[in-house]
Amino acid sequence: PNEPPLVFSWFPVVGSTITYGMDPPRFFRENRAKYGDIFTFILLGKKTTVYVGCQGNDFILNGKAKDVCAEDIYTVLTTPVFGKDVVYDCPNSKLMEQKKFMKIALTTQAFQSYVPIIADEVSSYFKKSADFKGKSGIVNIPPKMAQITIFTASHSLQGKEIRHKFDETLADLYHDLDMGFNPVNFMLHWAPLPWNNRRDHAQRTIAKIYMDTIKERRAAGKSDAQDMMWHLMGSTYKNGTPVPDHEIAHMMIALLMAGQHSSSSTSSWIMLWLAARPDIMEDLYREQVENLGADLPPLQYEDLAKLPLNQAIIKETLRLHAPIHSIMRAVKQPMPVPGTKYVIPPSHVLLSAGGVTATDPTFFPDPDTWEPHRWDKDSPIAPRMVVKNEDEEEKIDYGYGLVSKGAASPYLPFGAGRHRCIGEQFANVQLQTITAMVVREFKFRNVDGSNKVIGTDYASLFSRPLEPANIHWEKRNA
Ligand code: HEM
Repeated sequence: PNEPPLVFSWFPVVGSTITYGMDPPRFFRENRAKYGDIFTFILLGKKTTVYVGCQGNDFILNGKAKDVCAEDIYTVLTTPVFGKDVVYDCPNSKLMEQKKFMKIALTTQAFQSYVPIIADEVSSYFKKSADFKGKSGIVNIPPKMAQITIFTASHSLQGKEIRHKFDETLADLYHDLDMGFNPVNFMLHWAPLPWNNRRDHAQRTIAKIYMDTIKERRAAGKSDAQDMMWHLMGSTYKNGTPVPDHEIAHMMIALLMAGQHSSSSTSSWIMLWLAARPDIMEDLYREQVENLGADLPPLQYEDLAKLPLNQAIIKETLRLHAPIHSIMRAVKQPMPVPGTKYVIPPSHVLLSAGGVTATDPTFFPDPDTWEPHRWDKDSPIAPRMVVKNEDEEEKIDYGYGLVSKGAASPYLPFGAGRHRCIGEQFANVQLQTITAMVVREFKFRNVDGSNKVIGTDYASLFSRPLEPANIHWEKRNA
């Protein structure tokens, strides 16, 4: 009786699965217009309650562990892919400790060493790739960005040994592993289907590669790289147990998978927008020349802070294309919604869609336009967010350091609360470095010269550009 309104559908069980799945942002917008900020729809037979708007973001993402639970929803998909005893295959308190271990490895010092590694990977990729031979050409950009993302992430986060294996076996294995993230696996994760068999084989093989590397490093007594693996090898749970090798291996898989999809699709959107807006690509080039010097010296971590437009490119792209459009939680006990008559019963799933506020004209004037200059000081279309200053902002210790509570923000591409992303800074360093290096090398434009970009593919768990997404490239020094 006190449940939120139910979205009408002609179909039992299937409910609104299809209309939601084809275009989630549109589904949210249309139903928000009809029913308000809270409404329920049927997703694969489950009553799924969407709560959009800033209060909704806060209600779901800052939900207490006794009320909401992520692992109940995600584990069927993630555990066969990552492996046992990590992330959503363990109690939340253990995940909090694991996130703390992973976070500790992502220091300023680490980022200082990553930027040259990432920059070198990008330039050598374009030197070697057959698709970028000559002075100009046309290329379907997303598969290229997927490779650049995995080479840069594996080299910086996982070290040289692992990076080299991506030229040989690891790329295909990760591809097979990826098949486990097909959304049909929410229902068919257990089934002995060909793609699930390949997923399981890939998981075992990759985990063994990491475990062998750990053993080799331990036998050698030291490691020349103080990377993520090295940090995890030295980490101990609060109860005194050192992190077991298989958990290190599974966390390495989880980190690479979590980062790969989101960063790869974001970098593809960046390149597509640069092709649609060659004027912005020129602004970026000028920014580097003016702020780093006309000779464009090798890129360093410290340089990134001197390139505000380059940073705004990432922010603006994530505003329109957050790769995770729906964040889900199982409801553990009846949850009254403050300020309303509604109570969400435990049979429901809660769904948070931060993209709705990120494209709401209340907060972002001219919301559907990709305009990185909106993040400039004094822009007439600057974001209208309540930005509290540092001291006012409430911070909470979720077990991996103080994080901003800010779940009521309209802009949350990295989530909020206890499940908030630990990879935000890494992703920013990686994406800013890739963008800066591409801008040094190329001029892009759309093949038809228009300023439009292609639509979004929502068929996999992480949204990304539809393909083929062709762009025209031309080398600057040609
Ligand atoms: C969690 C987005 C890159 C590791 C999350 C969440 C979001 C997100 C929205 C919250 C999920 C939820 O609440 O259910 C992004 C975006 C990225 C990115 C947009 C890049 C553009 C990365 C990278 C890494 C990473 C590079 C690893 C180095 C994680 C981890 C979690 C997480 C470990 C925690 C999951 C949890 O506590 O349940 N990310 N992410 N992410 N992300 Fe990221």
